[in-house]
Amino acid sequence: MNLFLPFKNEPKINSKRLLIASILFLLITSTSQSQTLRDIAPNGKYIGTIVNGNFFNNQGNNGPNYEGVIAEQFSSIVAENDHKFENIMNNEPSDIYDINTYNINTNKLDRLIDFANVNNIDVKRGHALMWYNQAGWLNGAAADWSREKIYTFATNYITKVISYRAGEINEWDVFNEIISDNNDGFRTGTWYDNVVADGKTVQDFLDHCFVVSRNALTAALGETEGNKVKLYYNDYSIESYDTNPNSKNGFMRNMISEMVNRGVPIDALGLQSHFVSPVDESFTNSISQTMDEMIGLGLICNITELDIRICNGAAPASAAELEEQRDSYERVAAMAIAKEGCTGITLWGFTDAHSWIPGWSNGECGDALIYDNDYNEKPAYYGLASGLSVPCLNNPTVPQAPFSGTPAVIPGVIEFEDYDLGGEGVSYSDIDLSNNGESDYRDECDAVDVVTEGSETIIGWLSVSEWLEYTVNITQLGNYSFIISTAADVGFEGEGSIEVDGVDVSGLITFPSTGGWSNYQDTEVINIALNAGEHVLRFNVESGSFNIDKMTISSSTLEIDNFDLNANLKAYPIPFNSTLNISYNDIERTESLNLLDINGRKVLNQKYNNEAVIKMSAENISSGMYFLQLNLRGSITKIIKVIKK
Ligand code: G3I
Repeated sequence: MNLFLPFKNEPKINSKRLLIASILFLLITSTSQSQTLRDIAPNGKYIGTIVNGNFFNNQGNNGPNYEGVIAEQFSSIVAENDHKFENIMNNEPSDIYDINTYNINTNKLDRLIDFANVNNIDVKRGHALMWYNQAGWLNGAAADWSREKIYTFATNYITKVISYRAGEINEWDVFNEIISDNNDGFRTGTWYDNVVADGKTVQDFLDHCFVVSRNALTAALGETEGNKVKLYYNDYSIESYDTNPNSKNGFMRNMISEMVNRGVPIDALGLQSHFVSPVDESFTNSISQTMDEMIGLGLICNITELDIRICNGAAPASAAELEEQRDSYERVAAMAIAKEGCTGITLWGFTDAHSWIPGWSNGECGDALIYDNDYNEKPAYYGLASGLSVPCLNNPTVPQAPFSGTPAVIPGVIEFEDYDLGGEGVSYSDIDLSNNGESDYRDECDAVDVVTEGSETIIGWLSVSEWLEYTVNITQLGNYSFIISTAADVGFEGEGSIEVDGVDVSGLITFPSTGGWSNYQDTEVINIALNAGEHVLRFNVESGSFNIDKMTISSSTLEIDNFDLNANLKAYPIPFNSTLNISYNDIERTESLNLLDINGRKVLNQKYNNEAVIKMSAENISSGMYFLQLNLRGSITKIIKVIKK
């Protein structure tokens, strides 16, 4: 449910969940040495690392067990440098316009794919097709090229590389770091500067590269298989949410959402995430906000280059610094991996023995990764593992059943927290994965935000599209009134509706703002027709956000005297048997009368016949609840509920 709603002491990240995750992880590690990061990561989500090409096949200074750790711990890999332009295409082709002259270094693609296949590594990332940096000979050559020549070259290069063993690299960073660091839009001073010509912009070039990538994959694999390869935009310093539209984050969000709106075939956003320790909760929340917005566009949003450096001027990291770093890894991983739209986290290396950070920072910073120089697991390793072990992420659902063992009786009181057993998608739907209310009232893995305060238990943070179901036993056919108790702070209000067995029986119910999240007020809905027997009653949240306590359901008599026709409307007898009589003062205005069943299907129709009382013959319809629809001249339609014996 909506985490941004200020309900009492708003838990932005569920600290209880982190605690439980830590305990679970300790249990896991103490009972089984075989649990690795890839085992701990939730099903269907990967934990990845870069592979430095110098170290493949035990070349170079690979340390004690470079490849071994990768194979053991990670379910995804990406080349640190191997697949960048300068390494894939060493020489300028003799004919830029002829793709056959493009000599790509297939060995560098093969060795990553083959290493992954041999070691059962599921997800291979390609980094990066287009980038201003590490562009080799292109830097000089493209300076003289026209816009059209750069487009042709990019088309041919992307097509050739992405088509090689097409589909075996599962994700490609199509464009890397296109945005300037100076809050002024697109980066300039690149080999592709000349694309800005003839009224075309850098944005056109970016779009073009995505279209070319998708087309090449479709041509190589067909649409279905081609679409399985995910196309990323990847960048740094875009992670935390910034309301300034000119900031790097603001510009990125606008750029990506406009690309999605234009139908550019982009599947994913990569947040590189080169962070400085400690990463605190407010920074993590801010990243979360960016991720939620991007995921809301229908994109995958992954952490693609995570490292969290300690900047202490080359001193050995203290125990306290390592603990802060541990918590930082845990926070970032827990926040990201729990999101449905986050399919994986990739680290920019795993051992401090091989990291770009000390060199890049002139020794000011280091110790950024999860193993030390000697390949020992650091506290950060355990922080990451704890963050990845989201206890309820793959919680199985069970068949739907009443919470207390027997259906709730109607008439009676139903506490909202007593929704059925079953789980997400079976007995409830909640927009996030954890119980942010932290109550122990329900199963730990239920995501509904149940809150217990003293003797009161309620559901907080209800958000649009969420729903809860209750198996009920309606003791007799009849009309019922529902009194629903809700609370919402000033400025908040919402709407809900009630369905029985999938049919809307209430229409929209408006719940007011009540002046406070703990000030409960009753909203009454009358004349809800219910059939006797066992049914499933669903409460839908249609709009807004509110807290909800209970619904009191009692028998109500059909109130038709208040029917607003400036007339004394009578529909009788209720319940009716073979004949339903209808009368009101201006009955001659009647165009037609319909009797609709509970699914809205017309079962009887009766025209006005100059009689003071219109009689509907109802012998042949079965007993139950119906809607009487009065259509008056002047397009006025009124509906009331009636019951056949
Ligand atoms: O290969 C040469 C070698 O021949 C030469 O002797 C040596 C001298 O410095 O340099 C070697 O090249 C280095 C290259 O890595 C390969 O190791 C470059 O100097 C060095 O600048 C380059 O750094 C890479 C950096 O990208 C370049 O921007 C890092 O390894 C790599 O980790 C880093 O990765 C980037 C991502 O691609 C994009 N996101 C940011 C991330 C960190 O900067």
